[in-house]
Amino acid sequence: MKTSVFLSILISFLFLQGCPPTRTVNEKWTSSVTENYEAYCAGCHGKNREQFVNRTWLWGESREEVFASIKYGDDDDGMPGYDTTFTDVEIYELVDFVLSAQTIKMSDIGRKKPQNKGITSDDLDFRLDTLVTGLVNPWGLEFLPNGDMLISELSGILYRLSEGKLSKIKGVPAVRYRNQGGLSDLKLHPNYAENGWLYISFSKPNPADAGEATTAVIRAKLSENQLTDIEEIFVAKPYVTTTRHYGTRMEFDREGYLYITVGDRGMRDELPQSLDNHCGKIHRIYDDGRIPKDNPFANNPEAMPSIWSYGHRNPQGMALHPSTGDLWTHEHGPRGGDEINRIEKGLNYGWPIISYGINYSGTRFTDITEKEGMEQPVLYWVPSIAPCGMDFVRDEKYGAWQGDILSGSLRFEYLNRCVMEGNRVVREEKLLEGIGRVRVIKSAPDGFIYVGVETPGAVYRIVPK
Ligand code: HEC
Repeated sequence: MKTSVFLSILISFLFLQGCPPTRTVNEKWTSSVTENYEAYCAGCHGKNREQFVNRTWLWGESREEVFASIKYGDDDDGMPGYDTTFTDVEIYELVDFVLSAQTIKMSDIGRKKPQNKGITSDDLDFRLDTLVTGLVNPWGLEFLPNGDMLISELSGILYRLSEGKLSKIKGVPAVRYRNQGGLSDLKLHPNYAENGWLYISFSKPNPADAGEATTAVIRAKLSENQLTDIEEIFVAKPYVTTTRHYGTRMEFDREGYLYITVGDRGMRDELPQSLDNHCGKIHRIYDDGRIPKDNPFANNPEAMPSIWSYGHRNPQGMALHPSTGDLWTHEHGPRGGDEINRIEKGLNYGWPIISYGINYSGTRFTDITEKEGMEQPVLYWVPSIAPCGMDFVRDEKYGAWQGDILSGSLRFEYLNRCVMEGNRVVREEKLLEGIGRVRVIKSAPDGFIYVGVETPGAVYRIVPK
């Protein structure tokens, strides 16, 4: 929610209405507020208010901020505004009704980080080292050969972490920082030591209309703390006004092709099943942006030649399997139906024709979960965990974890471990519950696993005992 909107509500409130009505938590709720919640809100947020409100708030958790969220909503995010449905007093009743179910303050969780001892999993004892705190939303992590770490902040800042100190890198392209858009993933070229190429994905504002943006990738070299030799190598078409589902993860395969995920940009019925645009797809390009001739649709004049697979919703995790070299991703479902997929050339992963999810409003948009010619996920999550960040455990120092998939849960704020046998998930385990919204996970060249968490933003290292 924009600060200006928020301030104007606050001011108009104080002038027109005096102070907002207050209520104590134990007071009995009038039947009207209960009915309003059930009739207008439960369809999307669920009947269980506790599950809804024990969350990291996107738009703030104070009474005034929650009031603004309900009154004005956010079209892009799918939250309707209720300014014409309810009076301000009714909205405040809803605010208090909703907040009274809160048993955990997220601002406390920020302080209640997992202790640096005694953390266990089914198969491994480990501790958590804190490398940096005080960030907001660290989205991408990379590791330079000299041991420095690069951290991208969604807001558009690129940091270098060197011997415990953060410094800013200059020359970062302008990003459209709104909702899910901003500075996103980071990836070093497999031959970085020789050629020095760093790849950066971001939401690029349309040069012809700043109200629109798209997923784009540049590569650049790093000279001290300055980006130089910037080359734009990928720009997804079309630019649109929505501010969600950018995808933006990047990965190189063993032959040096670069893969880029692009989400459906919130236009599920127009974009992901049609090959004439880049959205809801995974792309495969050469390291300099040229299109390989053996891409599956390279000879189809109707199709975007960079497409490698399609029918995706919003893939925000991608990693190469350590032994097979296959490309694995996960993606957000709508309400339920998040998926892990093994990506193969030219295949259709089905969104939105088949899905295990339902609409946020509770209605179903498809009755089918399977269809000829469309791929089944390796695994799906109902309810949604909202997966972000993904890597395989690569180093033997992690013992029984080796070869397993780690992915973050934005929604439930833990690290998810998929215990793997070949290409199958045989078991799952929740690690670091309450750590915060996990954004990024990387197995680094030093063999350790690094985890970036948002609001308050921090980067941790998992150290086995
Ligand atoms: C059509 C579905 C839908 C309905 C109906 C709906 N919401 Fe939402 N609401 C959302 C979505 C989607 C978001 C975005 C954040 C998220 O994904 O949880 C949201 C966000 C919010 C937020 C802000 C959360 C944050 O993290 O800052 C509040 C508060 C909220 N809704 C309250 C309500 C209340 C109260 C009602 C009923 C009057 C209601 N909503 C009805 C879908 C809905």
